[in-house]
Amino acid sequence: MQNFIKINRIIKPFKKTLKIEGDKSLSIRWALIASQAVGKSKSKNLLRSEDVMNTLNCLKKLGIKVKLSKNICEINSLGLNSFNYKKKLTLNAGNSGTLARLILGLLVHTNHQIKIVGDSSLSQRDFNRIIKPLKKFGANFISNQGKLPIKIIGTNSPKPIKYFEEKGSAQVKSSIMLAALNTRGTTFIKAKKSRNHTEMFFKYIKLPIKIIKKKNYDFIEITGRKTIRPINYDIPSDISSSSFFIILTALSKNSELKIKNVNVNPSRIGIIEILKKMGVKIKFENNNTYKGEKIADLIIKGKNSFKSINCPTKLNSAAIDEFLLIFLIAAKAKGVSYFKKISELNQKESPRLKWGAKILNCMGVKTIMKKDSIKIFGNPNLKIKKNIIIKNFLKDHRVFMTCVVAALAFGGNWKIYDKNSINTSFPTFLSKIRSLGGKFN
Ligand code: S3P
Repeated sequence: MQNFIKINRIIKPFKKTLKIEGDKSLSIRWALIASQAVGKSKSKNLLRSEDVMNTLNCLKKLGIKVKLSKNICEINSLGLNSFNYKKKLTLNAGNSGTLARLILGLLVHTNHQIKIVGDSSLSQRDFNRIIKPLKKFGANFISNQGKLPIKIIGTNSPKPIKYFEEKGSAQVKSSIMLAALNTRGTTFIKAKKSRNHTEMFFKYIKLPIKIIKKKNYDFIEITGRKTIRPINYDIPSDISSSSFFIILTALSKNSELKIKNVNVNPSRIGIIEILKKMGVKIKFENNNTYKGEKIADLIIKGKNSFKSINCPTKLNSAAIDEFLLIFLIAAKAKGVSYFKKISELNQKESPRLKWGAKILNCMGVKTIMKKDSIKIFGNPNLKIKKNIIIKNFLKDHRVFMTCVVAALAFGGNWKIYDKNSINTSFPTFLSKIRSLGGKFN
C-alpha cells in the first residue's frame, strides 16, 4: 500500500464533537509503573498505538503478565525487581524515546545484560542524557557514543543519587524516578520544569515522594524499596493528539469543535496558553480532576486573524511537542513571531526545528532559523497555490500530521509521505480528519 497521501482541497467549515484516544505519556507510564506493583492493575482507554504496544511487548519479554481486551488492559506483576527473563535479552522500543528512556530506569536493577534497540529515528537520538544519571545508580552501559543499540548491565544494589536535570526533559526526570524505586534510601532530583505525570502517579499510589516547587525548578525526593500497590486508571484523552484538531479548527473560519475529556495538566498546556496570546478562541468546559490530573472538554472556534507572539520561554517545555503546529498559526499571524531557546526540538523523532522551517518555507513563509530559535514572518492572507512534496526519511508522526493540517487549512497540492508514521501515536488520525470532512487520497 502507498505510504503517502495527496491533499488538494481546503477543508469546509465544520461543527463537530471529537473523542481523542488516551494520552501517550500516561499510557506508557501506567504500564511501566504497573509492572512494579504487586498484583493486578487495570487500565481503560489505554492508547492502542505502536509506542504503547511496544511498551507492553517489552514488559512481556521481561516476564510481566499482560492481558489486552477490547478497552481494558491488565498488568499482573510480583512487584519491584520481579522481572524474569532469558539471558541476552533484546528489547525493541521502536520509535519511542519515552519507552526506551523510561524502561532503562527500571533496568538499573537487573541481573543480566539487556540490549535496547529502536527504529532508525530512535537510533539517531541522544541517550547520553540518560546514561549519565543511570550510571550514578551503579548501572553500566555499552553504546556507540550514547546512541542505540545500547546494552545495560544492571547492578544488584543500586544506590540512591543526587542529580540536577537541567534540560527540562520529563523523560530523563522520569527515568531517574523509576530507577529510584529500586534503591535503598532517598534520591534527590533538582529538575527544570517539565511534564509531571510520573510525580502524579507516584503521589496517587502513595509512594514516599516529596516535591518542592520553585519558579523554574522542582525539587523531588523519592525513597525507594517501598511496596507499590496496583493502579487502576482510566486514561484521559491526549492533548498532543488533540492539538492537530485544535489548530485545524482555529485556522478554519466558521468551524467549531468540542474535544471531550482531555488531559489538561498545566505542565502540558503550553500550546493553549500560547494560542490564547495569539488570539485563538479556545476555552475549557466541565473542568474536573482525575487522580491528580486535570481534565476538561475543549471548545475551539475558527477565525481569520491572529496576533504574532514573542513566545515566553517559560512555556517551551509545556508546549514541546506542539511547536510545529503553533508555527502554522504564526504563519498566518500579523507580524513576526519569535520562538527562542527551542533547540530541544531538534532532539525529537526528527530534527523538528529544521523541519518546522522547511515546511513553512515550502508554504512560501519566510523564516530566520538559528541553532536555538526561529523567527516566522506571518502572512494574514496566506493561501498556497503550488505543489508541495514532503518526504521525511525519519519516522516522525508529528511532521506528517502537521503537514496534513497545513494542507487542509491553507490549500495547495500536497503529497505527504510517511502516512504509516501516525501509528506510533495516533492511528485514527486520518479517519478523524475524514469525519470532519477533510478530503485526501
Ligand atoms: C515525553 C517527554 C517529552 C516529549 C515526548 C514525551 C514524556 O520528551 O517530547 O514526546 O512522555 O515524558 P523530553 O522529555 O525528551 O522533552
